[in-house]
Amino acid sequence: MKLRNIVMGLVAAAFACAAYAQQPIVIKFSHVVATDTPKGKGAEFFKQKAEELTHGRVKVEVYPNSTLYKDKEELEALQLGAVQMLAPSLAKFGPLGVKEFELFDLPFIFDNYDELHKVTTGPVGKGLLKKLETKGILGLAYWDNGFKVMSANKPLRMPEDFRGLKMRIQSSNVLEAQMRALGALPQKMAFSEVYQALQTGVVDGTENPPSNLYTQKMHEVQKYVTLSDHGYLGYAVIVNKKFWDGLPADIRQQLEVAMEQATRYANQIAKVENDQALEAVRKSGKSEIITLTPEQKKAWKKVLVKVHEQMADRIGKELIQSVYQETGFDPKKL
Ligand code: LMR
Repeated sequence: MKLRNIVMGLVAAAFACAAYAQQPIVIKFSHVVATDTPKGKGAEFFKQKAEELTHGRVKVEVYPNSTLYKDKEELEALQLGAVQMLAPSLAKFGPLGVKEFELFDLPFIFDNYDELHKVTTGPVGKGLLKKLETKGILGLAYWDNGFKVMSANKPLRMPEDFRGLKMRIQSSNVLEAQMRALGALPQKMAFSEVYQALQTGVVDGTENPPSNLYTQKMHEVQKYVTLSDHGYLGYAVIVNKKFWDGLPADIRQQLEVAMEQATRYANQIAKVENDQALEAVRKSGKSEIITLTPEQKKAWKKVLVKVHEQMADRIGKELIQSVYQETGFDPKKL
């Protein structure tokens, strides 16, 4: 009788072990934007590829729209291992202590995606991702969003138009300096709070690429949107390093392939998504879209390029110079 009990116990334990061994590895991928954006679609694409390539041994749970965490909290959650994957905007690594990432926030430093890609795919981009490792974070890829517009309830055509306006920004010192250079009052605030802050007048205006403006319905509470293209907003896809290093090698390799494919996809759709979002804002008739004249654009550049020098000590003079060299940017030519 006793022996029978032992055997049954062992059989039950073996079944439990087998069931446990078949449990998929779960990757929680948290982000703050809507699913219908370049980042949201990239995350969904990664989920599909990762699950397909690992034949279900990995399950990716995507949590969009700050459903799990807001901006700052999500980085803490990743470091603690409560989530495994994020794609925060590059601006958000400054507060984490890797302030060199704020170079991507410098106004007018990139004219287009090609210039930006020279930096993200070159030694500068790779070196920056490497810096995250001391924070327990592994940088896997750069994903694009796009070039920012400015919005407010008054038309923003010249730098003077910003005087005294409370403008929501991400928590980046470069963006703070940018708004101050325009004479505005920068207000750092989590992304999930922006719509309500605009609606209730806690802030007067904001900046973001059209895909974020449209999917958060900001255009419904902003009368004017200026196509300024004054700065870039993009992401680094990151994982908890300990989690990633601890994955079985074959799984990690399959996930790397899924990430490569998702990166190609996300960066391919970013411009189209933003163009379509802008078109949708235009069609909604809720915001008037302002195109700057060459003279107006020149006035913006004149005021904003000073931020490069102001922030050189924080970001690193050499780093800024190496970006200028990669892209051909010359502040004197503005
Ligand atoms: C913002 O806070 O404005 C953006 O970083 C949101 C995002 O992730 O695109």
